[in-house]
Amino acid sequence: ETVDADGLVALPGLVDLHTHLREPGGEEAETVDTGSAAAALGGYTAVFAMPNTDPVADSPVVVEHVWRRGREVGLVDVHPVGAVTVGLEGAKLAEMGMMAASPAGVRMFSDDGRCVNDPLIMRRALEYARALDAVVAQHAEDHRLTVGAQAHEGPVAARLGLAGWDPTAEESIIARDVMLAAAAGARLHVCHLSTARSTEILRWARETLDVRVSAEVTPHHLLLTDTAAEDYDPVHKVNPPLRPAADTQALRRALADGTLDCVATDHAPHAVEAKDCEWSAARPGMLGLQTALPVVVTTMLATGLLDWRGVARVCSEAPARIAGLTDQGRPLTPGEPATLTLVDPEAAWTVRGAALASRAENTPYEGMEMPVSVVHTMLRGRWTVRDGKVSVHD
Ligand code: DOR
Ligand code: ZN
Ligand code: ZN
Repeated sequence: ETVDADGLVALPGLVDLHTHLREPGGEEAETVDTGSAAAALGGYTAVFAMPNTDPVADSPVVVEHVWRRGREVGLVDVHPVGAVTVGLEGAKLAEMGMMAASPAGVRMFSDDGRCVNDPLIMRRALEYARALDAVVAQHAEDHRLTVGAQAHEGPVAARLGLAGWDPTAEESIIARDVMLAAAAGARLHVCHLSTARSTEILRWARETLDVRVSAEVTPHHLLLTDTAAEDYDPVHKVNPPLRPAADTQALRRALADGTLDCVATDHAPHAVEAKDCEWSAARPGMLGLQTALPVVVTTMLATGLLDWRGVARVCSEAPARIAGLTDQGRPLTPGEPATLTLVDPEAAWTVRGAALASRAENTPYEGMEMPVSVVHTMLRGRWTVRDGKVSVHD
């Protein structure tokens, strides 16, 4: 099947290290099916599915289920991320080796920010991951510094000194973990890093410690600031929170200079009830898969901080390298089926949550104009998206 690629920009298939697909257990918000469609439409060919499902992805059975669902849907490679601890409870290490040995071949483990607050558990997780040649993805949040602040959290409360949106909850964990990773000789990946000081800790760690550490930033932390959340509309509630503009600017610079390796969506679909309520009761998180590339274009390309080559690096090559994927973000061997995405750099569109492929609609960009469109996506020689529409199997 041929497509017209006149005037389009070709990128290697995008790779998202941080997606919440909600299956099993959260199917009212998203499924592997709907999340895969959103991913393909966003230009992604591989996503890493976070383990905070119900049941938690802490066993070979659950990771194999998610992986198999991804294969059945066939729109994007779904790589399950295994939970570090049983039930994401932080008390006992999960059988990481069993998950690594499953057909899902898990090589990334995470605790979703809930529980690797115990440094001893984190140290053991890093040692275990090192033995498996796996990476530990840390959501970097000390919950003892944030829990209990729910009622008073938010940008206005933070400015009044009332709230638990304390950047040290993030920064102290990153500082701790780069030292633990260095001591364990293990690979650490820092999820959704969101403050200027976090980027400075990362620079310091790389210069001072012999540590293998990578880091991601979300599109929403590159574009939105805490002033967006001053309306206390739950659509703007996310973990880590939206930060002051000085942080946003520092994150852009850090992504441009390579301090931050890549962009990851933290695509977090939530059912209407979880967002259509008071701020304090709302679940944190926002959709990201279908808007990530345009937001990167707005914040990094249109500002001159990255060129298209750089966009390919932060959205595909770097995440593929961090995750150990071998089929993305490198030159093709002649005759090899392509995994790529074709983008129209001139085709603007307006975001409508109801029109996105996700089952959920919690986009913070409702009504906003996005500057570029993903037109075609190809996974190993087969179109998954053609002319902006999900392409059913040939
Ligand atoms: O805001 C968030 N929501 N951040 C995360 O990292 C998790 C996510 C979720 O699962 O909803
Ligand atoms: Zn997180
Ligand atoms: Zn997340």
